[in-house]
Amino acid sequence: MNQEKFGVTKTGEAVFLYTFENENGLKMTVSNIGAVLTNLWVPDKEGTVRDVVLGFDTVEGYEANDDLYLGSTIGRNANRIANACFELDGVVYQLAKNDGENNLHSGKAGYQLRVWDVKTVDEINNKITFSLISPDGDQGYPGELTLDVSYQLTENSIVITYQGSSSKDTILNPTNHSYFNLNGHNSGTIINHRLQLQASHFTPMKDSQAIPTGEILSVEQTPMDFRVEKTIGEEIDQAYSQLVYAKGYDHNFVLDNLTKDFARLTGDQSGIVMEATTNLPGVQFYTGNFMSHTLGKEAAVYRFREGLCLETQYFPNAVNESQFKTPLLKKEEVVNYQTRYTFKIDK
Ligand code: GLA
Repeated sequence: MNQEKFGVTKTGEAVFLYTFENENGLKMTVSNIGAVLTNLWVPDKEGTVRDVVLGFDTVEGYEANDDLYLGSTIGRNANRIANACFELDGVVYQLAKNDGENNLHSGKAGYQLRVWDVKTVDEINNKITFSLISPDGDQGYPGELTLDVSYQLTENSIVITYQGSSSKDTILNPTNHSYFNLNGHNSGTIINHRLQLQASHFTPMKDSQAIPTGEILSVEQTPMDFRVEKTIGEEIDQAYSQLVYAKGYDHNFVLDNLTKDFARLTGDQSGIVMEATTNLPGVQFYTGNFMSHTLGKEAAVYRFREGLCLETQYFPNAVNESQFKTPLLKKEEVVNYQTRYTFKIDK
């Protein structure tokens, strides 16, 4: 593991970069600001290494663009909560309204801006664990939450693990918000990537505010059907209401089988394939529809649809939808969530 200074936060806290690499040419860098994944280098079909995640070269970049969540850990709750409010054990909790009337990714000053403790570094297993204590009442949520987030670089994958426990009943729905571009972070559009998603259903949104209707709809005969691999761009601009609301894909897909890969994504130029597995019930497939002009790493400019996210999660607004699996974390229970992204070459 190589540790180097990254910078300081606005409040003067020291920020570091931690880099791990293996014999197969995979290399990942993470940082204690936001427990963020800043770089992920993967060999392409010619053996040339490409950095396949979007990010910033400076701490200021992460602070100034915190609403893009590039590579960040999101908590306590990823995605949206309608009217920024929920009820738990008979008490109504009010959260910040940072997305119209709703709460998105738990509001400003989220976990993506916190400086996390480094709990352990395991050099033999290429693994680092960050830890955060989120006080009772933080962002409006009940209970003191202890959250550990680990990144491990294995032979051909990165494994992100979350372990959480709380002093009171609360909700916990963490995710990693990496934007992938398997052609390289500075390679332009992702619409020619090919994608397969093992998801027969998705949760439609009511309107452009993106709160789910509560239904679980079949993808059959809609542009949401990725069960057979297709390019992301194939139907993205169709006049299908769900795509119009979100300006592309920005939807929660219901995963069919948690024991198998739920996604296979291929970079059209690089031949890099990424497969993903998780034990969380859904994935937000987001095609970077709200990106317009962001100055990123190595002076790259990230524009509309130049990165895509596969954010594993409980369904959006699950805390208010009884038919969605609950993100409730009971007092003193310990939960473990895991998402693995595996890299291969397209043959
Ligand atoms: C999530 C949301 C998107 C967008 C991004 C951040 O993926 O679903 O609508 O807000 O985060 O820009």
